[in-house]
Amino acid sequence: MIETKDSNGVRVITLDNPPVNALSFALCAQLLPLIEAADGGRAVDAVVFTGANGIFSGGADVNDFTTEPGPETKTIRDVIAAVEGSSKVFVVAIDGNALGGAFELSLVCDYRIATKRSRLSFPEIQLGLLPGAGGTQRLPRLVDVQEALQIMLKAVRIPAEEALAKGILDEIVDGDVVEAAIALAHRSEGAKRRLSERRAILPKGVVPQALPFLVSQAHKMVPPEESGGYAAHKLIDAVEAAVTLPFKYGLAHEYRLFDELVRSKPSLALRHVFFAERALSKIPGLAEAEPRTVAKAGVIGGGTMGTGIAICFADAGIPVIVVEPVDAQVERAKQTIFGMYAHQVQRGRLTQEEAWKRGQSIVFTAEYGELADCDLVVEAVFESMDVKREVFTKLDSVVKTSAILATNTSTLDIDEIAAATRRPAQVLGMHFFAPANIMKLLEVVRGKSSSLDAIATAFAVGKSMRKVTVLSGNAFGFIGNRMLLDYVREALYMAEEGLPPYRIDAAMKGFGFPMGPFAMFDLSGVDVAWHIAQARPDLGSGRTKVVQRLYEMKRFGQKTGAGYYRYDKSVGSGREPIRDESVEKLFAEEAQRAGITQHPNVSDAEVVRRCTYALINAGAALLEEGIALRPGDIDIVYVYGYGFPPYHGGPMWYADESGVKNVYETILRFREELGDRWQPSRLLKEIAERGGDFATARLSEASVSDRSRTTEAVASHA
Ligand code: 3HC
Ligand code: NAI
Repeated sequence: MIETKDSNGVRVITLDNPPVNALSFALCAQLLPLIEAADGGRAVDAVVFTGANGIFSGGADVNDFTTEPGPETKTIRDVIAAVEGSSKVFVVAIDGNALGGAFELSLVCDYRIATKRSRLSFPEIQLGLLPGAGGTQRLPRLVDVQEALQIMLKAVRIPAEEALAKGILDEIVDGDVVEAAIALAHRSEGAKRRLSERRAILPKGVVPQALPFLVSQAHKMVPPEESGGYAAHKLIDAVEAAVTLPFKYGLAHEYRLFDELVRSKPSLALRHVFFAERALSKIPGLAEAEPRTVAKAGVIGGGTMGTGIAICFADAGIPVIVVEPVDAQVERAKQTIFGMYAHQVQRGRLTQEEAWKRGQSIVFTAEYGELADCDLVVEAVFESMDVKREVFTKLDSVVKTSAILATNTSTLDIDEIAAATRRPAQVLGMHFFAPANIMKLLEVVRGKSSSLDAIATAFAVGKSMRKVTVLSGNAFGFIGNRMLLDYVREALYMAEEGLPPYRIDAAMKGFGFPMGPFAMFDLSGVDVAWHIAQARPDLGSGRTKVVQRLYEMKRFGQKTGAGYYRYDKSVGSGREPIRDESVEKLFAEEAQRAGITQHPNVSDAEVVRRCTYALINAGAALLEEGIALRPGDIDIVYVYGYGFPPYHGGPMWYADESGVKNVYETILRFREELGDRWQPSRLLKEIAERGGDFATARLSEASVSDRSRTTEAVASHA
């Protein structure tokens, strides 16, 4: 875990705790005596810390946060206190990332040097925490308070050169960073530079009396405590303490706030999201599969999705050919691509040269034959089985036999599409979300014949596109849209019962969604919902003719200036939903016609329960059926694809947070009060009855290779 080497009076301590040299309790327990020995040793003048595995360190071991540290436990705080108390000079030699607790360890050192590629960051806020080993006290003594707040609140990854310019680093080196650190230790001649002995720095021109104003401004800039800002407000309090209190009291304040946060619900949820995201690719058999190299890709259809997917390939450095037979569509696609890259250049995110290169790597054609040597082709034509089968038959005959053929269908059966080819093992779904080049989520859909090699290839491509890739089984709507149908069904039912759409949306926004279900309908298109209702009237549509009437009125949503809301180009961005009482009247009229009793007095909390419990119940059914591999996979789909508030961890985590038993009993109440559409899923019932939760439910991850579903998921809950 730790290696030490002496070099001419300098002791080099190398952290070697793969994969990211996390400063776990165990590692700290080993590190502490080494520091104490160096401090007491006459032969040692200085200590250099460095890291193996291409990284300095990813900070504290997040797994340790679930363990209450006992009196014997050694943590980063103890290590840092030992360095602070030592009379020797400490130099940190950073190559790669220095994150969280590792950045804090760097700050207690007297000198900091790094290679050019290194980055320093405090990512704690993303885990619902604050830097809890002195970071909130030392950083504002190195850069000014405002800068320190920015760095910590936004989890900025500071590149080495910027860190040097800000005075966070003392040197950047091209060559061997450890050799340079040893040389620096010698040059320092034993001069200690403790940040704890300095005062916190106020921004230029800010007098001490203005601090309360600065602090209150900072509090206003972050979300309210209950809407994702829980840790942010505490972080600001800790930084305020760095200015107002002597170092040791400020430090004690920080420790207290951290210890509170580490046990808080939002932090538990965010840590779940962190690990769930990293578990996504842990799919039985996948590690042994061999992903194909995708050197060239194809996309069929240059519409909304095809254009976005082509951009994803170009951004990943994979040249792509788009087959689009309609000239006007090609023109529109080219304009979209040009506009998007021009915007990126304007915002300084891409150089002109890079943007040009990416734009050039997208080529349009009307000829399928040009796809012959593609390694992967993603189809994004109209949502029609006949059209898709025709396209796949054609692709099968022109594209090389080793290539993988993927469909971006939102709802259609992958097996039926695969059956149109002679290579069903190389056919799967790659379901991007609109806008494809912006949304992080990618669902990879496994058909009954899809090979693990094909799945591994899709995951590797997703990674090169920087997507968060989730495996789903082959079922109507896959994971995300299948659950969404139950969610929006409940919203429609409430509107039919007399609750105005704006009230429902406000309740869901209050819970933490960026927009409510009706604003979402208006964004994705009421016409799209209408089309889905034609295919599956049993799912997602209400009991009345409201969707049909809106469709007939061409109230398709934002794109036609009206849907469930009105939109006015002269108001704000033009995309702000404006309450439209005519839609409320329409609901009332149609509800009366359908004989639906009105219950307009539903509390916000009940709205949230009806919508989120519908998601939970649908999610549990997907686990039961083996469509989703793990509860965490569902949570990631909802956090990244649908804006479920990450500080509630996703629907399945939220079920645990609310108590599965409680969710189950509420669903039984809904069944009583609202009707038989509310049927608790078998898995939900079982977990509730045994007093368990989804996080610890033993969902078997047995073989996936012989199943038409994603996996054997849940077998062992029975
Ligand atoms: N603790 C525990 N495990 C960690 C970890 C950490 N801090 N950081 C990464 N890991 C694990 C991941 O879970 C993953 O494990 P797996 O292979 O079993 O799935 C493995 O390391 C590799 O992680 P990634 O897949 O994310 O690898 P990348 O190379 O893409 O990224 C990274 C590496 C940049 C270090 C990224 O993992 C990261 O950002 N980690 C989070 C760092 C963080 O939040 N640190 C702050 C911790 S809190 C703290 O320090 C508190 C202190 O103030 C007291
Ligand atoms: P679109 O209507 O914008 O684009 C479809 C394009 O395919 C058109 O440009 C059309 O000319 C072209 N096309 C039709 N037949 C073709 C053929 N035989 N060969 C080549 N090109 C052909 O449709 P959109 O919205 O891009 O949807 C495409 C697919 O993506 C559908 O399956 C849809 O369900 C799915 N999808 C759509 C999402 C969305 O939000 N729009 C989100 C996720 C998936």
